Amino acid sequence: MSQSKLVKETELSSVAELPVNGFDHIELYVGNALQAAYYYQHGFGFDLIAYRGLETGERDKVSYVLKQGQVYIVLTGSLKPDNEIAEHIRLHGDGVKTIALDVQDASSAFSTTVARGAKAAMSYQEFNDENGIFKQASIHTYGTTIHTFVERAGYKGSFAPNYKKIKNRPGNPVGLLAIDHVVGNVEVGKLSQWVEFYKRIFGFSVYQEFGAKDISTQYSALISAVMANKNTSIKLPINEPAKGLRKSQIQEYLDYYQEPGVQHIAIATENIIATVSELRKRGIKFLTVPKSYYAALSERVGKIDENIEELAELGILVDRESSGYLLQIFTKPVQDRPTLFFEIIQRKGATGFGKGNFKALFEAIEEEQSKRGNL
Ligand code: FE2
Repeated sequence: MSQSKLVKETELSSVAELPVNGFDHIELYVGNALQAAYYYQHGFGFDLIAYRGLETGERDKVSYVLKQGQVYIVLTGSLKPDNEIAEHIRLHGDGVKTIALDVQDASSAFSTTVARGAKAAMSYQEFNDENGIFKQASIHTYGTTIHTFVERAGYKGSFAPNYKKIKNRPGNPVGLLAIDHVVGNVEVGKLSQWVEFYKRIFGFSVYQEFGAKDISTQYSALISAVMANKNTSIKLPINEPAKGLRKSQIQEYLDYYQEPGVQHIAIATENIIATVSELRKRGIKFLTVPKSYYAALSERVGKIDENIEELAELGILVDRESSGYLLQIFTKPVQDRPTLFFEIIQRKGATGFGKGNFKALFEAIEEEQSKRGNL
């Protein structure tokens, strides 16, 4: 890995890495959690496993918990016009509120990060019920997004305290296994500040970075840095818009989300062809690249196990690295605003993010941006 140009290594080398096991869950604030739950259950094949709302004693919010493989998505809606959830939805539309991290010690994660300068979002809480002990606390990151530290090793419940377990609501899975990475978009000129944030607060380092030349087309550009812990169980790429002939896709996101926030959630599968075939059958919409992409593919990536015609049919992209290759595809935005989308990724030895696909991919995004009158 090349030394980061974004932050001086020497300044921050003494920060110990915060122990984080992996992603715990992603919480979205949505305008209609009941209907969103149906979309994720029947579109993406998640099981509906837990619920909280009026019936469980909540008075102003409702949440549905969906699970597939190790991916947990919580959809939270507001029952009132004047709470933080309603305000988040008014400002941002549907979007990610929480990137929750599974930790060994929530209390220490919270006190350590706050001592290092993080802003507290929810103070440390300990719940003790018939399922055991559940601990959590939250800090702010970019925009109105938060990181919640979840300690659930001593907890046997279905998801969290105050949730009711839901039985017999399987969603017919499509092979989604785990969250691979979660990407944030920040304003122009702010990337280095957020790189520094993850170094200083979490002790993470720059795993990879991409300059405007790596990620540019004729029209738009962005720069990006991937923050990660040492064992890479947490990978958090961050993008900022860069100058191009037209509006950067990151700027379009910021214009509609109104603030920095999560751009996409990448979910790993062991068989992308089966997963994407099934998702397409269920009506999930993906970005498509020009057929010319596949004509040049075998020359670019060499021998791969998959049939290129089948990949072309499904619109799956391939990128080769020295250690192997990866296959990936991106959905169209999953709500009205052109903001959050999903990536499906299968890694076959490659550890990167599909740098060789950036150009084709961004041209596909720009085509959509242009249809929206935002290019
Ligand atoms: Fe990605």
